[in-house]
Amino acid sequence: MQTKLPETQGSSLWDMREMAMEHQAIDMSVGVTEFSLPARLGELASSVIRNQYNNYAPVAGCMSLREQVAARYFNRYGKRYSPVTEVTISAGPIQAISTAITAVVNEGDEVIIFEPSYLTYGPAVRLNGGTPVHVPLKEPGFRVEWEDLRKMITTRTRLIIINTPHNPTGIVFSREDMLQLQRLTAGTGIYIISDETYECLSYDQDKHQSAGQFEGLASRSFIVSSPGPVYHINGWGLAWCLAPEAMTAEFRKIQEYQIVNVAYPLQQALAEYMEGEDSRDEINEFYQGKRNYFNRLLKGSPYILHPTQGSYFQLVSFSAISQVPDTEFALRLLREGGVAAAPLSLFMHKKKSTPYLRFCFAKKNETLEEVARRMIDFAAKAAF
Ligand SMILES: Cc1ncc(COP(=O)(O)O)c(C=O)c1O
Repeated sequence: MQTKLPETQGSSLWDMREMAMEHQAIDMSVGVTEFSLPARLGELASSVIRNQYNNYAPVAGCMSLREQVAARYFNRYGKRYSPVTEVTISAGPIQAISTAITAVVNEGDEVIIFEPSYLTYGPAVRLNGGTPVHVPLKEPGFRVEWEDLRKMITTRTRLIIINTPHNPTGIVFSREDMLQLQRLTAGTGIYIISDETYECLSYDQDKHQSAGQFEGLASRSFIVSSPGPVYHINGWGLAWCLAPEAMTAEFRKIQEYQIVNVAYPLQQALAEYMEGEDSRDEINEFYQGKRNYFNRLLKGSPYILHPTQGSYFQLVSFSAISQVPDTEFALRLLREGGVAAAPLSLFMHKKKSTPYLRFCFAKKNETLEEVARRMIDFAAKAAF
C-alpha cells in the first residue's frame, strides 16, 4: 500500500522497548515511570467507574476538570483562560498537538521544528500537507540560536512548535528565549504550539516559562500540557490545550471529528482529585532528586552528562568510551550491558549519528543504582 509517510519507518523508540524486554534489559529508553499514581486518585477512579460517568464526556472535556486546569494555570502563571471557551481536554499530548497542527496547517505551509525533537511533530505536519523545516539545537548546550530561526522564517511559515522543558535534551527555555520568540513572531500570522508536557519538572533556578505568560505569544499559542508526569498517569491518555477563544473553537471543531470522547471517568476522577490538592512543587523536587541521584551515581565514570534543566530525561555522552554511532552503542549497551537507552539520533529526521543516549530517570533508586553499575561495568569491559 502506498504510504503517506515515506520517510518514516514507525517509531524505533518503541522497538527499543521491545528489545529491552526480549533481552531482559532495564528499560531507560522510553518515558515510562516506575511510580504508582496517588492512592486516593486510584480509589476515586475505581469508584467513579463503578458508580457513574461511563458514558460519553462533553466534547470539550469534563467542565470540572477544565475549571481545575484554568485555576491552576492562573495560580502559577497569572493568566486567565476561560474553562468555557479556552480550555479543552484531549486524549494525551500527542493527540492535542496533532489536532492543533491540523487546525492551522494547510497544503504547502512550512512548520518550524527545533531538532532534536519529540518524534511525532514532523509526521503530523506532513499528514496535513505541510513541510517541516528543521532548525537544529546546536551543541554545546542545545540552545536555540535565534538568528538561525530568523533566517528560516519565510512568508510560508505558518507555525512554530516549541517544547519546554525539552524532550530529549532536558533544556528549559529561558525568559530571554521566550522574549526572542515573541519578538521574531510579532506582526506575523505565525501560530505557536507550545508543548509544555513537562511544565512541572524544571530544576534549580531554571524555572519553566509558559507561552501564556507572554502576551504576544499567548494570543497565538496552543499550550499543551498533561497530568501524566505529575501523577504518574501517562497511560490515562489525558492532556489539555489552552488557547484563545477563536483558536480553541477551531481546535474543538477538529477534535470532534477525530475523537468524540476522552476517558470520561478518568477526567472526572482527576478533577475531583485536583480539587484542593497541588503537588506540583513536590513532584518537581522529587524528580530533581532523581536527576541529582542519577548524576551522582555516574560521577567519575567515563560517561559525560549533559546538564538536565527539566523533564525526566538525561542525555549521556559516550564520546570518551567509543566513537561508534549512537545506535550501535545503544544496541551493544542493551545486549551486552543489560540497559536500554534511546540514541539521540532517533529524535532527528535525518539519522545522523551523535555521541548521546537519552535515559529516562523516572525510576526507583535501586533501579538507578543497578543501571549505573551496569553502565560503568559495560564501559570498562566492552571492546570497541
Ligand atoms: C515532549 C513530549 N510531548 C508529547 C508527548 C506525548 O505524550 P503522550 O504519549 O502521553 O501523548 C511526550 C511523551 O513522551 C513528550 O515527551
